[in-house]
Amino acid sequence: MKIITAEFLTSVAKREDILSTGLPELAFVGRSNVGKSSLINSLTGVKKLAKTSSLPGLTKLVNYFEINKKCLFVDLPGYGFAKTSKVQQGEWSSLIGDYLLTSEDLRIVLLLLDIRHLPNQLDRIMIDFLLSNKISFAIVATKADKLSLAAQNKAVDAIAKELNMRKEAIFVYSSTKNQGREELLDFVEAVINS
Ligand code: GTP
Ligand code: MG
Repeated sequence: MKIITAEFLTSVAKREDILSTGLPELAFVGRSNVGKSSLINSLTGVKKLAKTSSLPGLTKLVNYFEINKKCLFVDLPGYGFAKTSKVQQGEWSSLIGDYLLTSEDLRIVLLLLDIRHLPNQLDRIMIDFLLSNKISFAIVATKADKLSLAAQNKAVDAIAKELNMRKEAIFVYSSTKNQGREELLDFVEAVINS
């Protein structure tokens, strides 16, 4: 898929405001700081489309971006971090669950995992949540540039084994190097045309 237009559409803070435009949606989900917003910027080729930060917990709203007037990329808050309340640490913003359960146009979740780490307990809870609610998802292993090619291979093997899935089902990505971009964009196209 070639990106022709990528525009910020709107941010939503509560369940009642979740959009229903009829355009297929791809949601970016994962731990705080794993690289969701950076992935959106890399895929679209628009550097500051989604706000990114080295501090976790930046994205607090559901942010919608319209791509080629054909689909929406949905940047969600990360889980596993809460600045305001210690009690909430490790829990998800309820907005994540609200979005995943109520969006009528959600086609697929891209679940991001840092390539350097095995999925943690929260990632597993998220995967179980997606499976039990029959929400399709694909895994993207982020920050691949932090490892050599050989180490990337090994890390993806380990993640695949841990999740009991095929290695080929995991996309390896680097937002700083745009590694994996063409492949993931082709996948996005296949999803929205399916
Ligand atoms: P929250 O909104 O807090 O949930 O975080 P996020 O998942 O949107 O992460 P974000 O895209 O803001 O990136 C977090 C940090 O990781 C930033 O400092 C990014 O520059 C860095 N980062 C993201 N992707 C990559 C990558 O592919 N390679 C490297 N080296 N750094 C990355
Ligand atoms: Mg973000």
